[in-house]
Formats: sequence, C-alpha cells, structure tokens
Amino acid sequence: MTDSDLLGAWRRHAGACVLLDGFHALKHALRFGAEVPVAVTGDRAGALALAEELAPDLREALDALLAEVPRETYASLVPRPHPTAVAALAVRPAREAQLRALGHLPRTAPVVVLDQPRNLGNAGAVIRLAAGFGATGVVTTGPLDPWHPTVVRGGAGLHFATAVERLDVGDLPLGPVFALDPEGEDIRGLKLPDDALLAFGSERSGLSDELRARADHLVALPMRPQVSSYNLATSVAMTLYHWSATGGAVRAS
Ligand SMILES: C[S@@+](CC[C@H](N)C(=O)[O-])C[C@H]1O[C@@H](n2cnc3c(N)ncnc32)[C@H](O)[C@@H]1O
Repeated sequence: MTDSDLLGAWRRHAGACVLLDGFHALKHALRFGAEVPVAVTGDRAGALALAEELAPDLREALDALLAEVPRETYASLVPRPHPTAVAALAVRPAREAQLRALGHLPRTAPVVVLDQPRNLGNAGAVIRLAAGFGATGVVTTGPLDPWHPTVVRGGAGLHFATAVERLDVGDLPLGPVFALDPEGEDIRGLKLPDDALLAFGSERSGLSDELRARADHLVALPMRPQVSSYNLATSVAMTLYHWSATGGAVRAS
C-alpha cells in the first residue's frame, strides 16, 4: 500500500474508530479481540523488536498489520507523538453488544459504576483496573464520555477487555448496588457478591442523590479520621482488590 493509500484508509476509518496511541495500547487491544483496520508506525523495526520482547504472541499479527510511514506522516496522525511511534485505529464495539454484556445474568464479576465522574484520567485508570480484575464492565453516568480519546489513552487499550458504556442511573443493569461512601459500613466485614454493581461518586461531590436512592448498601474503605476521602481510581482499586481477595475470581480471559 502506498503512503497516500494508507492515509486515505486512516481518514476513512478515523470517524468511526478510536485511536490506539502507542505500541502498548495496540498490543492490549489486539489481545482482547479489537478489530483494527489500520495501524502505522514511524519505526517498524523498533516496533517489531518490541513485539519480540514484550508480545511474542502478537509478533506475526503485528508483522502483517503494521505499515511503515515516514515519521512526519506518523506524527501528523496523532495529537502527540508516542515514544514507540505506533498508532492504530480500532472499531468501537457496538453499544447493543456492550449493553448485552453488562446486563447478562448470572454475572460472574462485578460492574463498576462511576457516578458523574469528571476526570478523564481517572476514568481511564478505572477501565484499566476493571480489565485487570476481569470486571464485567465499567458504566459511567453523566456527561463524561468513557470513550473520549483521553480516557482511551489512560486505559492503555484495555477498553476492549471489558464492556464500557455510558448510562442513566435509571437504566443501570440489574444487580445489588454496593455504593462506596466514607459513611458506609466497613468493607472489611463484607463479601462483595460477583453480581454486584460497585458504585463510586464523583471526584467533587461524591454519590448523587439518584445513585444513593438506587443503592442497596453503603460501603466504606478504611480511612483514619481527619482524612476526607481517597482518590476515585484508588477507591476502585481497593474495592476490586477486596472483591478478589475475598473469593471473587479474576477471569483468565
Ligand atoms: C474523591 S471521592 C469524593 C469526595 C467528595 N468530596 C465527597 O464528598 O464524597 C470519590 C469517590 O471515591 C469513593 N471514596 C473515596 N474515599 C472513600 C472511602 N474512604 N470510603 C468509601 N468510598 C470512598 C467514593 O465513592 C467517593 O464518592
């Protein structure tokens, strides 16, 4: 394919796809089944050496997929060049399929609910955590788009390893809601069920009234007096760790 064919393909797909920025995002997305119609690099030999070292399972797939373009062409396709000089476009999964995955019962791992999150970096970090713990998915309420390019960048390509969607509180999937709040019951005495919705409030104002009304349990993370709260993504990490450490199974795939 010539450079201009590649650029044409990139432009054709850019509107409907999400940008995978850097080698690691592409690696994760491919491992979790993302459809990647176009992938470019300003340094093919370097990218394939990285594959050899860090992702031998994908060496062949990357060899077939990665097209080399001049560095300036690569740089023109991304907001900020990545040290690995790799960029790709991946097809965003259909909302209907994501909603099916989120609503499927019986559920074997919790859904994380971020109620009105504000910070795109936090949302990306939470999606990465959910992927790592094999959570069923991450739902956001409110205006933040969990597929915003900055969230996808923060998620390191792991949006494809868990179901990610935005929903109104009234449309949340079925399941008992365990809402995290410093005023709740100490998490150390609880076992979080696999079908739980684990809900977390916004960075600024905590849980909304609507989410509180839907909550079955309020749960607190241990924190000494005079500390007001933990960071949102940190709270999700502790809660998922507690779920896994008290018998929740981290899925193999
Ligand atoms: C940065 S905190 C929100 C702080 C906010 N100023 C408030 O009034 O709650 C973001 C979310 O993390 C969770 N969180 C933080 N610290 C927690 C704790 N000690 N126990 C339970 N949840 C906590 C809650 O879900 C909270 O809504």
